[in-house]
Amino acid sequence: SCVRSGVVAAAAAALLAAAVVPASAADGQSSRPAPGGSGAGDAYFPFAGNSGYDAVHYDLDLRYQPPAAAPAPLAGQLDAVATVTIVPTRHLTGFNLDLRGLEVESVVVGGRPAEFAREGDELIVTPKTILPRGKAVDVVVAYGGATGRPTDIEGALYGWVTTRDGAMVASEPEGSMTWFPVSDHPTDKATYDVAVAVPEGLVAVGNGDLVGSSTANGWTTWEWSSREPMASYLVTASVGNYELRQWTTPDGLLNIDAIDRDLAPAASAGLAQTAEMIAFFETKFGPYPFSSYGAIVDDDSVGYALETQTRPIYSTRANEGTVAHELAHQWLGNSVSPARWQDIWLNEGWATYAEWLWSEHDGRTTAAENFADVMAIPADNGFWQTIVADPGPLGLFAGAVYDRGAATLYALRLEIGDEAFDALSVEWPTRYKDSVATTEDFQALAEELSGQDLEEFFDVWVWTAGKPAIP
Ligand code: ARG
Ligand code: ZN
Repeated sequence: SCVRSGVVAAAAAALLAAAVVPASAADGQSSRPAPGGSGAGDAYFPFAGNSGYDAVHYDLDLRYQPPAAAPAPLAGQLDAVATVTIVPTRHLTGFNLDLRGLEVESVVVGGRPAEFAREGDELIVTPKTILPRGKAVDVVVAYGGATGRPTDIEGALYGWVTTRDGAMVASEPEGSMTWFPVSDHPTDKATYDVAVAVPEGLVAVGNGDLVGSSTANGWTTWEWSSREPMASYLVTASVGNYELRQWTTPDGLLNIDAIDRDLAPAASAGLAQTAEMIAFFETKFGPYPFSSYGAIVDDDSVGYALETQTRPIYSTRANEGTVAHELAHQWLGNSVSPARWQDIWLNEGWATYAEWLWSEHDGRTTAAENFADVMAIPADNGFWQTIVADPGPLGLFAGAVYDRGAATLYALRLEIGDEAFDALSVEWPTRYKDSVATTEDFQALAEELSGQDLEEFFDVWVWTAGKPAIP
C-alpha cells in the first residue's frame, strides 16, 4: 500500500506538491488539513492514482448480470459495493478515487454519509469531518450501471470488457477504474477480497485463493481473497462458462485454472508444462512470490494475455511461450512493479527474456539465438527508435519495449558476467518484493552487485534511441 522506494515517493510527492496543493500545505509535516490530490504523479497518466492517502485494502462485492442475448451491443449490468480502507498520509478535508463510467449512488466514510462529485475520471469525496493522518478509515461506495467494452488510450479493449457469456477483466495500465473506485496506480498496492454474484451456472474467477462459493435464488457468489499486496491493474474478476480445475505442483503450490468450456482442449495445451516452468523460474528468480497460481483461458478476446496476479488471463489461446511470459511476470512485474509507467520495459523486457530462457531450457531456440535475432534488425529500422525506458504512453507495448528490453538484459549479462547477472535476477524481485521500483533503482542494484559503473551502458541501451553495439 505504500511505496518502499523513498526516491520514488519523494519524486512523486514533489510532482504533486507542484501540481495540486499550495506549497505551504505540501509539506508532509504540515498539520494544516487539505484535500488529497488527483494523481499519483505519473507523467504518462497524471490522473491515475491519487495522493493524500494509501489504500490498504479493497473489499469488492459485485453482482453481475451478463448480456441477455448475443446481438451487439453487448451490455451487462453491474451492481456493486466497494469498501476501500484508506490511511490518510496527511490530515484530509477530502480525497479522490478513480472511477470511469458507471453511476455512484452513495459514499459513506467512517460510517457517515459523505458528499461526492464526479469530474472526468475522478470521484471526489468530501467527508463530514476531517480525516486524521495515520488513522485507517473505511470508504463505502455503492455504485453500478450498464457495462460495455471500454478501451485504453491506444483503442485496445481493457478494463471490465463485457463478453457474450460474462466479462473478461484485464486492466493494464489504468483500466481498473472502469469497474471499481480505486487508487489506480501501481505505487498504491493493496490486499483484496472480491465476491462476485453471477447467475447460477456461470463462474466468476478472481486472484489468489478461492474462499468458497454458494448458491441461493439462482445466483452463485464466488469469493476470492488476495493476501499479498497487488497493483490495481493486476486485479481480475472474470466471468464465464468456465471449468475450474484444481491441482497442486510437486512442490505443493495450489493451482486453480479456469478454462472456458466452449473452447477446444487445444486452446489450453500451452499450460501443460506449468509445473516445470514454475520450478525452472524458481531456480532463476527465487521462490514463487504468491500463495497460489493458475490460468484463465477465455473464449472472448481482448486480443492479448495479461499477467493478472496469481492468475494470468489468456484470450482464446494459451500458447507455451505466452504461458512462460505471464508466469515470469509474477516475479517481474507483479512482485516488483513499475514505479512509473515509463518503467514498463522492466516488466516486458524481463518477461520476454524469461521466455528466451524457457525456450533454451526446453531444447528450442537459445537465449543467444534470440538475442542475435534482435541484433540482426538493421540499424535504420524504426524498431531502434523507441527509447525503452521512456517509450511514451502510446509506446508502452511497442515491440521494442519487449524485444529491445530483453536484449538489454542479455547485453547486461554479457557486460557484468553470468555470476553477477544471476545474483541480480534473484535480488531484483526479492529486494523489491510487494513493492515498486524504477529503472534508476535497477541500474543501482546492477552496479551494486557487479561493482561496475553502468552509467554508459544504461544510457546507450535504455535512454537513447538508435542501435547499440554488442558488448
Ligand atoms: N502485459 C501484457 C503482457 O505482456 C500485455 C498487455 C498488452 N496491452 C495492450 N494494451 N496492448 O502479457
Ligand atoms: Zn508481458
